[in-house]
Amino acid sequence: MRSAKIVGVGSYAPPRILTNEDLEKMVDTSNEWIIARTGIRERHIADDKTAASDLALEAARRALEDAKVNSEELDLIIVATVTPDFVFPATACLIQDRLGAKKAAAFDLEAACSGFIYGLSIARGFIASGEYDTVLVIASEVLSKITDWEDRTTCILFGDGAGAAVLKPAEEGQGILSSYLRADGGNWDLLRIPAGGSRILATHDSIDKRLHYMKMEGNKVFKIAVQSMQEAALEGMKRAGVKAEELSLLITHQANARIINAVAKRLGLPSEKVYINLDRYGNTSAASIPLALDEAVKKGRIKKGDLIILVAFGGGFTWASCVMRW
Ligand code: UT7
Repeated sequence: MRSAKIVGVGSYAPPRILTNEDLEKMVDTSNEWIIARTGIRERHIADDKTAASDLALEAARRALEDAKVNSEELDLIIVATVTPDFVFPATACLIQDRLGAKKAAAFDLEAACSGFIYGLSIARGFIASGEYDTVLVIASEVLSKITDWEDRTTCILFGDGAGAAVLKPAEEGQGILSSYLRADGGNWDLLRIPAGGSRILATHDSIDKRLHYMKMEGNKVFKIAVQSMQEAALEGMKRAGVKAEELSLLITHQANARIINAVAKRLGLPSEKVYINLDRYGNTSAASIPLALDEAVKKGRIKKGDLIILVAFGGGFTWASCVMRW
């Protein structure tokens, strides 16, 4: 079985920034509450005309440039998103066309905030089997479009952005050493958009009831997120045959600084081995890990040979981890 490794990363966030002070003017909240409860200071918000594929395209171009890979070499494009341009066709197909990736297959993947790691794991499998050599995994979210800007319990959390990675075959012991994917649909209703699918159609009534916006029972999600990400990290390390002290960096889904710090503490990792950028992006769902990964690489926080772990948790519920030698 061939190994697979990331050979290039890229990310993009729309230029407009919404600060906690801006939110104070929109809902009954305060900068102090948001920072103390979440660690978020500001987030990027797309304009009305921008959709997931616009952010994804820019992140993808940057990742391809970083990898020195031509789009015509791509065998497969996977887009992880809960905010696709359309219910169908897939956002990945729009990207395939806009990149000119002539021979690539393309599909979307919906695993909420765990989508990027799910995508890496699928890419790894295709490369390991020998079916494909060059895979582009993108996570792109325009959460601002599904956020209820009148609901202070959720609107302070989310932001927009995209991140991408190009994967190619690697020598054994290099690149991805383990991936671990889990799901539990028993808690599907704790984090969801009620309407707009085939269960509750988008109607005047559903829109009047604000059912096309994201709903979350944050407190319950918080506890399960910490527990699940700890479990995913431990199982991922076990499968890779590595110990926590060997890790150079932990990058978790960026939902809440208190969640990230709790997971790091349970794993016995000091703060200098934990990457946090949610203070500047908020929670960007599937995009949060590749946004952080790209930033960490460009800032020199990840160097060749480093052992890193990615860990995610999201709606579904889904959770996942990926250990890799950079
Ligand atoms: O990305 C997928 C995974 N998502 C997550 O992992 C998110 C997990 N959840 C969280 O991050 C946290 O639960 C939140 C940040 C959403 C909320 O923090 P919390 O510490 O769980 O607060 P809470 O929901 O227990 O609310 C505490 C209080 C409540 O008031 P009372 O009932 O104590 O009087 C809320 O009404 O804070 C109030 N509150 C606010 N106050 C000011 C809720 N939202 C706000 C707000 N500003 N924006």
